[in-house]
Amino acid sequence: SDKCWQECMDVAVQIARSAGQVVREAVKQEKRVSTKSTPADLVTEADHQVEELIISTLRERFPSHRFIGEESSAAGEKCILTDNPTWIIDPIDGTCNFVHSFPMVAVSIGFAVKKELEFGVIYHCFEETLYTARKGHGAFCNGLRLQVSKEKDVSKALILTEIGAKRDPKTLKIFSGNIEKLLSAPAHGVRIIGSSTLALCQVATGAADAYYQYGLHCWDIAAAAVIIREAGGVVIDTSGGPLDLMSRRVVAAGSQEIASYIVQQLQPISYERDDNG
Ligand code: IPD
Repeated sequence: SDKCWQECMDVAVQIARSAGQVVREAVKQEKRVSTKSTPADLVTEADHQVEELIISTLRERFPSHRFIGEESSAAGEKCILTDNPTWIIDPIDGTCNFVHSFPMVAVSIGFAVKKELEFGVIYHCFEETLYTARKGHGAFCNGLRLQVSKEKDVSKALILTEIGAKRDPKTLKIFSGNIEKLLSAPAHGVRIIGSSTLALCQVATGAADAYYQYGLHCWDIAAAAVIIREAGGVVIDTSGGPLDLMSRRVVAAGSQEIASYIVQQLQPISYERDDNG
């Protein structure tokens, strides 16, 4: 099976690159935008096309495997992790960026076996950088080995987060309160780039020291979790316990110290689990 998962990963890399090319072309065309769970939860025709391209190619190649995809799930397909080899796919992460041609958009492909993440591939469509990691084999960006920052002191940290789709006053108050707490730590800075997967990749490269979010999905975390862990970082639940892929919340950091600090500061925002549907 070791050889088999490596073959799967090689296929994932090829598909991520060709999907990225489709995204680069699509960004120049007029976009057909619709909304999903809230007015801030966007989807375009390109999201559907790219997901269809990725899943149909993989299904042909690996007919016994299972698939969890952002748009298939939105269309009502079950989002449940079983022991079977499962591909966890975000065709366009950063859809709002894509709609605005803001150049932070990625294709994310994760792969789990027996509910354990085995590898992750994230392709930055505009920069054409490829982040890859396989469990036990290290993390890489364009073939160069990645290493997290290992920063322990939050007062020297650059922290990333994302907003999430809920925009009601109560949620926004908690969201701002969390940022305020970290800024008064005082962290060096807090950034929001509009793509959970690319933000998480910045933790893997050491460009950022931590990331946290409420409201992301399993396809935003799956590939990135392997990449951060293989770069020496920690990826946990906002409670401080082990990561729950379906819980829609995460804290990732280059050190356990910063992860624990963030866990202590955060007020939770509740989102419905991915596996509730
Ligand atoms: C979303 C983006 C966004 C984050 C959301 C994600 P999508 O992914 O990464 O920045 O705040 O939680 O779901 O919808 O663009 O694939």
